[in-house]
Amino acid sequence: RHGRRDARRARLRGRQQARDDHISYVDSLPSGQEKGLFYALDLGGTNFRVLRVQLGGKEGRVVKQECDEISIPAHLMTGTSQELFDFIAAALAKFVASEGEDFHLLEGRQRELGFTFSFPVKQSSIASGTLIKWTKGFSIDETVGADVVAELSSALDRQGLDMKVTALVNDTIGTLAGGRYDDNDVVAAVILGTGTNAAYVERANAIPKWHGLLPKSGDMVINMEWGNFRSSHLPLTEFDQALDAESLNPGEQIYEKLISGMYLGEIVRRVLLKMTEEASLFGDDIPPKLKIPFILRTPHMSMMHHDTSPDLRTVGAKLKDVLGIQGTSLKTRRLVVDVCDIVAKRGARLAAAGIHGVLKKLGRDIPGSDKHRTVIAMDGGLYEHYTIFSETLENTLREMLGEEVSSSVVIKLANDGSGIGAALLAAAHSQYLEAEV
Ligand code: GLC
Repeated sequence: RHGRRDARRARLRGRQQARDDHISYVDSLPSGQEKGLFYALDLGGTNFRVLRVQLGGKEGRVVKQECDEISIPAHLMTGTSQELFDFIAAALAKFVASEGEDFHLLEGRQRELGFTFSFPVKQSSIASGTLIKWTKGFSIDETVGADVVAELSSALDRQGLDMKVTALVNDTIGTLAGGRYDDNDVVAAVILGTGTNAAYVERANAIPKWHGLLPKSGDMVINMEWGNFRSSHLPLTEFDQALDAESLNPGEQIYEKLISGMYLGEIVRRVLLKMTEEASLFGDDIPPKLKIPFILRTPHMSMMHHDTSPDLRTVGAKLKDVLGIQGTSLKTRRLVVDVCDIVAKRGARLAAAGIHGVLKKLGRDIPGSDKHRTVIAMDGGLYEHYTIFSETLENTLREMLGEEVSSSVVIKLANDGSGIGAALLAAAHSQYLEAEV
């Protein structure tokens, strides 16, 4: 008996080491009954977004919504916690001040906010959680271990903004909630943007980490934090290893570093640098800018990769404007495109493998007896704007699932679904809910 129990424990331990799942405290997805004025704030990449939405309940759904996007000055990503949260709170306060008459807050009520914070968080309730670590180029030591809702709430107080955070969610959870509100067949959410991650709905009694009461629905939404997946099976090259070693978070987010928008351009830069050093790709001298980490961004790479002009004009222009490399030959430009192709397709195929894994976990990788649709809500600029990447991902998934199953699997772009999702979850966890029912 003991032997068997030990083996099971070891198995569970193994599973927990290989994966990095986080419990979201979201045990039910939006019902469509949500009503009232709610705000959302989305922090998770180089931009953050603020949003307000008037929810009309069952009949009205989304009556009106407005949003704004603000880019985060780079120095705030590695400065102090207070500076970052003050900047965000100030932008939110400004946005709230512009609330027009189409939006209605019930008399005597406090404004409520869903906070999408897209970093690994150890959640302790639906509206509290501590930052486990930063990812995606953010690095502020003092925030690690702090309750990010408390950090935001103090900053809101400093702005004199009377607002209560009633839901703290990851962008994957927001996208899943927003996606489900739109389409009942949404079973998982995937983000392919600056970073990458996924969420899906799990039966609560199948979660070894869940020690609380079983939720009424029996379900729990899981934030996989799949960006932190690592395995000896991942095909890491010397370029990946060097990128990781020199990153702000060495040894972490290995899967993310192979796939997501923050890193693809940087991998290409490293390969081009090596080709220059060893094979004089751009002539005898090494172009100085090519040595600057992160100078070649994924959007640049995407523009070069999609260049269909016979003389690869865009490739030439990007090499000149971004890297200061003049007068490249067609042959050189073709090589650059080949590098982009290899790096983008590798990332897209690995991302498809992740989605296949989730579908497999949900039992949606085999032909069902009933012909149900399986919808994956997708968000993120990488998927949205990098066509060769998204097409490769879809082709790979089809390849893995086979024609029959893949004909019922849909990847649906849920643009800023996470903002609406966070607002819906803020509504679902409103402090006034009891009074309403
Ligand atoms: C990073 C974050 C994760 C987020 C993802 C996509 O992987 O750790 O929380 O969901 O980026 O934004």
